[in-house]
Amino acid sequence: MAEKDNLSVLFVCLGNICRSPTAEGVFLKKAEKVGLEVVVDSAGTAGYHVGAAPDNRSQNVAQKRGYDLSKLQCRKVEPTDFENFDHVIAMDNENVANLKQMCPPELHHKIRLFMSYAQSDYQEVPDPYYSGAKGFELVLDLIEQAADGLILQLVK
Ligand code: 4NP
Repeated sequence: MAEKDNLSVLFVCLGNICRSPTAEGVFLKKAEKVGLEVVVDSAGTAGYHVGAAPDNRSQNVAQKRGYDLSKLQCRKVEPTDFENFDHVIAMDNENVANLKQMCPPELHHKIRLFMSYAQSDYQEVPDPYYSGAKGFELVLDLIEQAADGLILQLVK
């Protein structure tokens, strides 16, 4: 759980086994590289896979680029997340809509689309669950771009 005096980021997708754990692993590694102290976590708006490790396809593409997702464990978004995290970063517009339904209006400003931090034609990180290998590579490409943009913003 994030402590109040630490900068903290929660990444959110639907299942918390593909996109948001990838974002967690990538962002944490990039933050460590630049010496940014930040608490990072991820969660899903749905609870289908609670307790599971990230999808093997996500783990495999991440591992090839040096990110270890094997120790992450799926959890669902909790109402306290909106108080405990400074930034709640969603992968797609459906996640944003679901999060806003759970979040008190005065904390809606914490919710942002991850791709808003990237210079990209993509506004969302697309759900790869029913896609082939290319979908998982694309997810990692987009997450690396957005993570760089978010780091730049946070170190300012
Ligand atoms: P994620 O992908 O939201 O990126 O973790 C999905 C994972 C599981 C399911 C859908 C999307 N599912 O329907 O089980």
